[in-house]
Amino acid sequence: MNTEFQLFPDAASTTARPVDQLYLSLVAFSAAMSIFVAALVIYLAIKYRRNNDVDRTQRPTHASTEITWMLLSLPVLVFIFIWGAKVCFFLLRSPDGAMPITVVPKQWMWKFQHANGRREIDTLHIPVGQPVRLTMVSQDVIHSFFVPAFRIKRDVLPGRYTDVWFEATEPGQYRLYCAEYCGTNHSRMVGKIVAMTPGDFAAWLSGASGDDEPPQVAGEKLFEQLQCASCHRAGGDAPARGPSLEQIYQRPQPLASGETVVADDAYLRESILRPAAKVVAGYQPIMPTYEGQISEEGVIQLLAYIKSLGSVEPAPPAAAGTPTGEATVPQGAGRLEDQR
Ligand code: CUA
Repeated sequence: MNTEFQLFPDAASTTARPVDQLYLSLVAFSAAMSIFVAALVIYLAIKYRRNNDVDRTQRPTHASTEITWMLLSLPVLVFIFIWGAKVCFFLLRSPDGAMPITVVPKQWMWKFQHANGRREIDTLHIPVGQPVRLTMVSQDVIHSFFVPAFRIKRDVLPGRYTDVWFEATEPGQYRLYCAEYCGTNHSRMVGKIVAMTPGDFAAWLSGASGDDEPPQVAGEKLFEQLQCASCHRAGGDAPARGPSLEQIYQRPQPLASGETVVADDAYLRESILRPAAKVVAGYQPIMPTYEGQISEEGVIQLLAYIKSLGSVEPAPPAAAGTPTGEATVPQGAGRLEDQR
């Protein structure tokens, strides 16, 4: 972490270069255009000043001037748009296999949890050379995760998952800010990112204490504690009251409304908190809401548990006498892409 004044923050992620190139190009382009227009204004004001003896008969029409300017600027602006869109898609699409970390901030601290359960507050350790994807949801108001050295900033909202990814390139410590005014101590809601070599990181990560339960383990306990299994059990002899949760993550689910929805984080979260919103075809809307009864971390743990169910061996196709509504689910339709 650099303490002396810097005009630009460190560039310590793979995101930094494309963002800087676009940003500096736009600044240079704007500056060049401003200088060009200002120079033209001054030049023409002097040349066509009152009483100056110049030829004023060659006035261009408004229409021809405007068409010329539009035709000249159009390709430039389209070029800038395409360039910006490319950088935008690069920033928004996390690469497959990115290391997942959950972020649940609240007034006024950043809480992190790694996939093996290790927790941190206001400091986040990550390896360099490895894409990292943060799944974030706020416990109270809107915060914003901002790491200038990585050129990333994403709002963290209550009630909705947002994610952001980055790949650090240089070991070191970098500042983390909250970039959304979130109350009295907003300005103190700062932290640091510690980027380590993969070896150092692996050693650090394995130092998890006994309290740091992996989220899917905590999720399974919560699943039992809330008695979810009494309706969402796998197999069984009587028809289940709720759909089985095995192998559903990231797969299309047919709904009672006739629509289809992919069982992603947002859908699973909604179905836990507002179960009646999107009922799976073949089931009654009898599930009670868990809104206000499970913390954000609890929901994330339940999701981690459901994801872990996606990695069991697929059942043999057309198993005789499968008693649940699973038969209506097009099991082969989605690929099992998320087994991390
Ligand atoms: Cu959190 Cu500002």
